[in-house]
Amino acid sequence: MARRVLLLLVLPTVVAAQNVQDGKDVYGPCAACHGANGEGGKGGEYPRIAGQPPAFTLFSLKQFQERKRKNLPMFPYTEPRELSERDMKDVAAYLATISLPTKVPEFKDSDSSLDRLLMMERVLVVPRVDGDVRKGKATYRKACAKCHGPTAMGRDEKRAPLLVGQYPDYLRRQFDAFKKGERGAEADDPMKGVLDPLSDQELTDVLAWLTSIQEDAQEKDSELTVP
Ligand code: HEC
Ligand code: HEC
Repeated sequence: MARRVLLLLVLPTVVAAQNVQDGKDVYGPCAACHGANGEGGKGGEYPRIAGQPPAFTLFSLKQFQERKRKNLPMFPYTEPRELSERDMKDVAAYLATISLPTKVPEFKDSDSSLDRLLMMERVLVVPRVDGDVRKGKATYRKACAKCHGPTAMGRDEKRAPLLVGQYPDYLRRQFDAFKKGERGAEADDPMKGVLDPLSDQELTDVLAWLTSIQEDAQEKDSELTVP
């Protein structure tokens, strides 16, 4: 719980407490697919949306609502009468406050068994990807870090999502979508053309690095470097 308070303190300009509270209610129907804590599911068929920078969540919801990004399962939930602009902001604020630890937390004697169960349910470790971690790190540093952040936790001011702790199968699907121009094709999309020069092997190596640093990146996401 201390962790959530801390996040609220470091994000005061983006996240107001009232938005977070209202956003929790807005999130209700989303949980059926994205899980109780925004952890996603089915190996990435439903992406993790917990811990995303609010600017990215807001942008994505608008893209779905305006049908600029294809997402059949979500279209009904993003109809304007279901999800107002205010709702989008609130749910984005709420999701940004959820951190999913990669390790089972230390329990206190006062934690009930229900508390313990709820804490265990938040733990998310995505599967490792085989590849050249060193090359992946170098590619990431050169081609991705300035927008997605040094530890790939995303950057709100760039509207760029976290890549660490996201399901690799989901990320692969998005690589394909970007390369085919099904996503990020608009002239002003920062991802436009970014992946084109990279081979499948280079992207696999990036995934190998991302999935190798998840513990460090998420536990110490306020620090700016990863060993
Ligand atoms: C019926 C299932 C379903 C429901 C309900 C649903 N989603 Fe989704 N959502 C998906 C799927 C599937 C995707 C991935 C689409 C793709 O592959 O591009 C997705 C993608 C997203 C993304 C983009 C994530 C990323 O990293 O690219 C966001 C943000 C999101 N959903 C938020 C929400 C919110 C907020 C709600 C509730 C208002 C919601 N979703 C309800 C199925 C659902
Ligand atoms: C100039 C800034 C910029 C650079 C450089 C950049 N990205 Fe992105 N990336 C973004 C933004 C902004 C989005 C959200 C775009 C959207 O939804 O259309 C994004 C989205 C993504 C997504 C979708 C994730 C999700 O949850 O939906 C993936 C995957 C991705 N980037 C991978 C990469 C990789 C790998 C690199 C380096 C090879 C990279 N990006 C370089 C800005 C950037």
